[in-house]
Amino acid sequence: MNDQVRIVEVGPRDGLQNEKTPISVEDRVAFVEALLAAGCPIIEVGSFVSPKAVPQMASSEQVLRAVNHHPDREFHVLVPNEKGYDAAIAAGARVVAVFASASEGFSRANINCTIEESIERFRPVLARAKADGIKVRGYVSCVLGCPYDGEVRPSAVTAVAKALWEQGCYEVSLGDTIGVGTPAKARALLRAVATEVPMAQLALHFHDTYGQALANIYAGLEEGARVIDAAAGGLGGCPYAPGATGNVATEDVVYMLQGMGIATGIDLPKLLAATNTVSRLIGRPPVSRVAAALNAKINAKART
Ligand code: HMG
Ligand code: MG
Repeated sequence: MNDQVRIVEVGPRDGLQNEKTPISVEDRVAFVEALLAAGCPIIEVGSFVSPKAVPQMASSEQVLRAVNHHPDREFHVLVPNEKGYDAAIAAGARVVAVFASASEGFSRANINCTIEESIERFRPVLARAKADGIKVRGYVSCVLGCPYDGEVRPSAVTAVAKALWEQGCYEVSLGDTIGVGTPAKARALLRAVATEVPMAQLALHFHDTYGQALANIYAGLEEGARVIDAAAGGLGGCPYAPGATGNVATEDVVYMLQGMGIATGIDLPKLLAATNTVSRLIGRPPVSRVAAALNAKINAKART
């Protein structure tokens, strides 16, 4: 496993979309800038969804415009439909992400349509993106369980991932939205989906509700996956996934990968600074174990 892993930092989107108190555009930009300073190569900075559905992500066009001048970095935004695509492109987006679900219950709650309707809704987005030279990432949610429908079969995930891949998504991110997965299940899921979408084009998007995310990621790495979605400080959750907590913390992933000799291009002390920045903005300490350990070490040193 001695090679490179690509980390997609989703804190400014998946993290902040679930905060009770909306964070100002200025603060959202400050968080993204801190992540850029840490070397994060790819950052999901917002969503072009209904502001009634997710008010926290309103004004994402301002966030994108403010950070979009870094030519060597990639900024992603979510778009659920053509309206979102129009707004994202107008704000200068070069990579957008569509998001479907492997379960009907979550599809209805999250984007108010069936799985099939969502796939049809993405078709014109992908066609236009191809013509415009825009990259499209695809998400599949609830890949290891659904808050509404319970168990989700790997074949259901594979079918949705295949549809997104065939429509032209360059990468499909598999979301354990409610963080219920365990390593053996994650491994079996990846093996199933990789029969239709190449493993190199699959991303692991694991929430940490049951504390299994890092173990699931390790299983995914053993299977050959090399793209990991994570949020600084372990921020996150989906407003339509009751009880689900944050994404795996980026610093926990970077620490583990460093221990395995795998490069990410992210500087751990600077990432900790970004986590501490957002932590101050939201008024809560990070849930990440690595952030807590490193902060304790820094504080102990400061006292001596
Ligand atoms: P709908 O009500 O079926 O849509 O919602 P509609 O077309 O009937 O429009 C309703 C209203 O929304 C209209 O406004 C539209 O103009 C507006 P009104 O006339 O009422 O004033 N609208 C929009 N406004 C801004 N941008 C748009 C847009 N589209 C319509 N793009 C819709 C369908 C998808 C829009 C809605 O359900 C929605 O916005 N949902 C957002 C869901 C969301 O953002 N969830 C969180 C992200 S997903 C996630 O977290 C999971 C992930 O992390 C992976 C994982 O963990 O598994 C990615
Ligand atoms: Mg998520």
